[in-house]
Amino acid sequence: MEWRYYYYIMSESRKFDPAKLAKLNDPKRLEILNPELIWTKADLKDPDILVDIGAGTGFFALPFSRKVRKGKVYACDISEEMISWMKNNLPLESQGVVIPLKMEESSVPLPDVIADLVYMINLHHELEDPVAAIKEALRLLKSGGKLIIIDWKKEETPEGPPLTIRLTEETIESQMLACGFTNIRKHAVLPYHSFLVGGKISK
Ligand SMILES: C[S@@+](CC[C@H](N)C(=O)[O-])C[C@H]1O[C@@H](n2cnc3c(N)ncnc32)[C@H](O)[C@@H]1O
Repeated sequence: MEWRYYYYIMSESRKFDPAKLAKLNDPKRLEILNPELIWTKADLKDPDILVDIGAGTGFFALPFSRKVRKGKVYACDISEEMISWMKNNLPLESQGVVIPLKMEESSVPLPDVIADLVYMINLHHELEDPVAAIKEALRLLKSGGKLIIIDWKKEETPEGPPLTIRLTEETIESQMLACGFTNIRKHAVLPYHSFLVGGKISK
């Protein structure tokens, strides 16, 4: 694959450059990160409230919002540019369903125990403190809720961030386990991404 959609300002930050946000909307991304496949494999039980951490342009919040017609998707991001892009560009059908929400690093301005599903896609390698982000997901989830983490495999891929900042699937799994997630499933269905799903059990 020759196409490119990912650019980083590596000298200063591991964060995605918001100036390149149009790259996130490249439909070719659907070939390697198919939302329908992700939804099916995650084996969700009719979730109502979703929290997308690192939502970007809502590339996944939009298709997932069609699964929760009576619910909501909180599309959270630390970047003001991403939040205003979503507010100005997401289609009418998603109004009142996809809620763009500015968050701080590892801190989502939502109450405890509200979410059926929290997901983070192409975010993990950008996080300053991945364990703190996973703990924040745990705080947001209802008992029985699920966390999906999808991020670039730590191996050569035609696209993606530098290998040095990627995490192995095993590292992500151990972070999830350390935070208390259980029944962690690793789905080997995406060509360039690790795909983990963990559950929150009641105490
Ligand atoms: C590579 S983009 C992926 C966007 C989207 N998940 C997708 O795959 O289309 C990563 C996004 O995460 C955001 N981000 C980076 N660190 C974050 C953090 N700690 N909490 C929330 N969002 C963050 C960036 O602003 C950017 O919009």
